[in-house]
Amino acid sequence: MTDVWANIWTVAKLGEKSSIGKRPDHTDGDKTGNAMTIKVHERLLLTGAAGGLGKALRGRLSANCKTLRLSDRVDPGAAGIGEEVMLADLADASAVLAAMEGVDAVVHMGGIPVEGPFGPILQANILGAYNLYEAARQCGTKRIVFASSNHVTGYYRQSETITADHPPRPDSMYGVSKAFGEDLSRFYFDRHGIETACLRIGSAFPEPRDRRMLATWLSYDDLYRLVTACLTTPVLGHTIVFGMSDNPVTWWDNTRARHVGYAPKDSSEPFREAMYARTPEPDLTDPVAIHQGGGFLRMGPFDQG
Ligand SMILES: NC(=O)c1ccc[n+]([C@@H]2O[C@H](COP(=O)([O-])OP(=O)(O)OC[C@H]3O[C@@H](n4cnc5c(N)ncnc54)[C@H](O)[C@@H]3O)[C@@H](O)[C@H]2O)c1
Repeated sequence: MTDVWANIWTVAKLGEKSSIGKRPDHTDGDKTGNAMTIKVHERLLLTGAAGGLGKALRGRLSANCKTLRLSDRVDPGAAGIGEEVMLADLADASAVLAAMEGVDAVVHMGGIPVEGPFGPILQANILGAYNLYEAARQCGTKRIVFASSNHVTGYYRQSETITADHPPRPDSMYGVSKAFGEDLSRFYFDRHGIETACLRIGSAFPEPRDRRMLATWLSYDDLYRLVTACLTTPVLGHTIVFGMSDNPVTWWDNTRARHVGYAPKDSSEPFREAMYARTPEPDLTDPVAIHQGGGFLRMGPFDQG
């Protein structure tokens, strides 16, 4: 098993990126806004590599590791330099175990990303999370960045600011499945010492798509900064972080996660004026406009899938 922090120090020292006693700044980037180029991990597993966020992270994460192992149940495309591909259905324990072999950290993006019939959510998000943590325990993998969701707390109101200490109030079976993943990862930390950052991702898209996303937006570059911070902070523990850019209007307070060192550099503010011009005023008697989960409050119930 790789001692990640020892690795950071060694590489940082060799590259004269920092001096002893000073933490390397992994969030400072090159001119494109992308983060550090220190290859901290030997082999990083990216699940959900064929999905929207998997594709966004794929090119960026090659800077963080010597080998990036891409996994999904569908083909993420041919492996490039420094990449390898291992298809695995998260519901298949032996396939997940094989994908975990030789991996020193995981960025877990795979799963069903929206509300829908419970069957696929159960397989991918609940059984899949269990298979992933069991595989990590068996392989000695010690750090996981888990794509949780803001829908774990979607029933809080938009007039409230919540921290990671607020109890979950899921707005959907999807949100319930992510709350399960958060609890599961806490158990594997307490019992087995596997560190996890649960990223309660807001809305990670190239740009905000509606008024709600002015509060919840997470740019792809900030997503990468957040993932990198979670992968490299010396002591992660079990941490819940709201995944958002530096948006002026927000419902989430990340002060419980200062030790992660996440410093967003993007903001939804430049999109506000055009968004207001092309979208109607929200109906403030509508639960969808009042609660943080937005449209997820209206989805379902679905027939058993
Ligand atoms: N995009 C967002 O704004 C957002 C917000 C909150 C949370 N998230 C979470 O981030 C993660 C990535 O989201 P995304 O937007 O890229 O979604 P996506 O649907 O584009 O990607 C998810 C990937 O997971 C794979 N997958 C689904 N079921 C699987 C299974 N059983 N086995 C293996 N692979 C499986 C899919 O094939 C897909 O490639 C998800 O876990 C999602 O819940 C995303």
